[in-house]
Amino acid sequence: MEVHLSFIHRFKPGTQPGARPLLLLHGTGGKEDDLLPLGEMIAPGSPMLSPRGKVIENGMPRFFRRFAEGVFDEEDVHRRAFELARFVEEARSSYGIAAPLALGYSNGANMAAAVLLLSPSVLSGAILLRAMAPFAHPPQANLEETPVLILSGARDPIIPAANASRLASILADAGAVVDHRTLGVGHELSPIDVKVGRGWLELVAVGRGE
Ligand code: MLT
Repeated sequence: MEVHLSFIHRFKPGTQPGARPLLLLHGTGGKEDDLLPLGEMIAPGSPMLSPRGKVIENGMPRFFRRFAEGVFDEEDVHRRAFELARFVEEARSSYGIAAPLALGYSNGANMAAAVLLLSPSVLSGAILLRAMAPFAHPPQANLEETPVLILSGARDPIIPAANASRLASILADAGAVVDHRTLGVGHELSPIDVKVGRGWLELVAVGRGE
């Protein structure tokens, strides 16, 4: 079903007419197949576009380079965010889909946050699972009521709570409608992410008359 585009990716057409497409962005060491089941649980029947990160760290795909855990190569974050935004535009015209809502986990969530801040029109919203702020000095962005759900883990050893809160403030200051919740979990994904993500997305869809 996939056509050749600038990222290795999976595309699953939707089965639910009018359902908002999801852009699935995996975590460090993931690949394009990993989040398809999660996407299907959170947004059943939606088209799914799922690229594989192009940066390889010790054999593990990621979406941008880092110097150490939580210390990002921000020049690379910029470059890769624009590269991914171009891929989304290519995929939209090849597959005939609307602007997707990103569903990102960990490194993929950080990349989704960078795309929101650098290319706000590319995404129609985002669910950011275990995310942190991708930039020390965030660019000025106009997110015009873009809906964003951030799900952090109270016992996450990788993402400092203050950093996730800073991301929520950055996005809200840029005009996004941010719902930031801290769940009683660690860095790993859990069934509560599915429950909360699905409920939030249903409310967003109702609000948009979808
Ligand atoms: C990142 O590098 O984006 C974050 O530290 C999360 C991770 O991928 O471990």
